[in-house]
Amino acid sequence: MFQTPKMNRRNFLCGAGALALGGLAGVSQIRASAGTPLSFRTQKTAYAIGERPATEGLFSFAENAPPPVLRLKRNQVARIDVTNGLEDYTSIHWHGLRIANAMDGVPYLTQFPIASEETFSYEFTPPDAGTFWYHPHCNTMEQMAYGLTGILIVEEDEDPGFDADVPINLKDFRLDDDGSLLPYFTARGAARGGTLGTARTVNWQSAPEYEIPSGGLVRLRIVNTDLTRVYKVFLPNTEGHIIAWNGNPLREGIAWPTQEAPLWLAPGERVDIALRAPDVADEVVQAQTLIARQAQPLFSLRTTGVSKKRDLGELKPLVPVEVREPDLRTAETKDILFGWSPEGTGSNNGLCGDFGYTFWSINRNPWPGDAMKRSGPVVELKQGESYILKLTNKSPNLHPIHLHGLIFRPLRSNRRALPSNWTDTILLLKGEVIEVALFADNPGDWAFHCHVIEHQKSGLSGYISVV
Ligand code: C2O
Ligand code: CU
Ligand code: CU
Repeated sequence: MFQTPKMNRRNFLCGAGALALGGLAGVSQIRASAGTPLSFRTQKTAYAIGERPATEGLFSFAENAPPPVLRLKRNQVARIDVTNGLEDYTSIHWHGLRIANAMDGVPYLTQFPIASEETFSYEFTPPDAGTFWYHPHCNTMEQMAYGLTGILIVEEDEDPGFDADVPINLKDFRLDDDGSLLPYFTARGAARGGTLGTARTVNWQSAPEYEIPSGGLVRLRIVNTDLTRVYKVFLPNTEGHIIAWNGNPLREGIAWPTQEAPLWLAPGERVDIALRAPDVADEVVQAQTLIARQAQPLFSLRTTGVSKKRDLGELKPLVPVEVREPDLRTAETKDILFGWSPEGTGSNNGLCGDFGYTFWSINRNPWPGDAMKRSGPVVELKQGESYILKLTNKSPNLHPIHLHGLIFRPLRSNRRALPSNWTDTILLLKGEVIEVALFADNPGDWAFHCHVIEHQKSGLSGYISVV
C-alpha cells in the first residue's frame, strides 16, 4: 500500500549562497565558530512522533526537539562540552571522523564514562569534509533507542554550489499507538536480525515535506541512525546522482537507485545525493523506501519560486579524501569471523549497561558491547603498514560492520561487485566474505563492531589496535 505523505510541514530551506541555519522545519542546526566551545546536554525530553500523543521519556540534546544538526568546518578545531543530564552514564562518539583516539568517545577504551551532571570536553579537528553523525557509546542501546542520534556535517573549504542542503536523519522509534515507549529490544531480535521500530521517522517527523527552490541544485544527506533497519532508498522520477558514500566523496560511481534496485543504507551508513529540482513550482520529489517489498514514502521535497535554471554540471566536484592508499603488495591479511557466541550467558559492561547474555562473537570471542578493554584487541596493526581485513559472516543475518578512526576500501566480495569507495562501515550479507584494504595511519584502540545495536550489545563488538 502506498500512503500519501502529509503536506503540513513546508518550509524554505535556504537561498542561493549562505545557508539559512535553522530553516528546516523541526530541525535546528548549530554551526561551530572558531574559538567558541559548544555546549551539549543529554537530557530527557517529550515529543510527539507522527500522529501520536507526545512521548514522555525520549532523550535528546535539546529541550522538546530532536538532536540538532551539528556543522563543523574541515581543519578547524571544534570544542564540544558534553554535560550528562541523564541518570545513567554516557559518552559521545563522532561516527566516521578520523580524529585522535582520546576524543573518540568509547568508554574504558578512550575515556571514563561521563557520570550524571558531569561534563566531558571533546576537542578535535575534523580532517575530512562530509556527512557524519554523533551518538552515545555507553548505554548505547537505551540512549540511541530513545533518540540520542544526531547528524554531524563537516563543511567543505569551498562551497560546491548547492542552493539547498537537506539533512535527513532516518530513525525508527519503538512506540505504542498512545505514544508510550515499548521495550527497546527483544531477546528474540537480538539473537536474530534485531528488533525493528514501530514508528518510522525522518528528523523525528513522519513523512515530512520540505521546500526546495524550483530548478535549484539540492544536496540531500541521508543518514541511517536507526539501530536495526536497513533502508532501501530510491527517488522515482528525479534527476540526480550519488556524490558521496559514508562520508567520503566517490572514487568509483554508484548506480542511481531505482525501485527494482534501491540503495541499501544500513545502520550507521550515509549517502550524499545531488538533485536537480524540477523547474515548475509545486512539483513534489518523493524519497521512498521498500518495506516488505512495498514502496513507502520517507519524505517529500516541494518546489517553490521561479526556476533557478541550474544545471548539475555547475557543481564543483567534492575534494577527494586525503588518505594514504594501502600497498596491496605488502599488505598482510587478517582474518576476522563474525558469528554466533560460543557461550550465551554473562557479559560485564561496567557502567555502560548490558543484556546479561551474549549471542554473537568476533573470532569466536563474545564481547560485552560498549566497554571492551578486558579481552585484548581483535587484531593488532602496526602504524604505517597496509592491511587487508578478510571479513567473514558466518551467520544468516546482516551485519553492518563499522570501524572507528580509520577508513578502508572494499577490494572484493564472494557475492557481488563492490565499488572501491572509502568507507567506515560496510554491510556484510548472509554468508558473505568481503576483503577490505586500509593503511593503518591513526594510532590507538579503535572500536570495531556491528551497528545493529542489539548485536553490538550482545557480543558483536571488539576493537582493533594500531600501535
Ligand atoms: Cu556509530 Cu561505534 O559507532
Ligand atoms: Cu564510529
Ligand atoms: Cu550484526
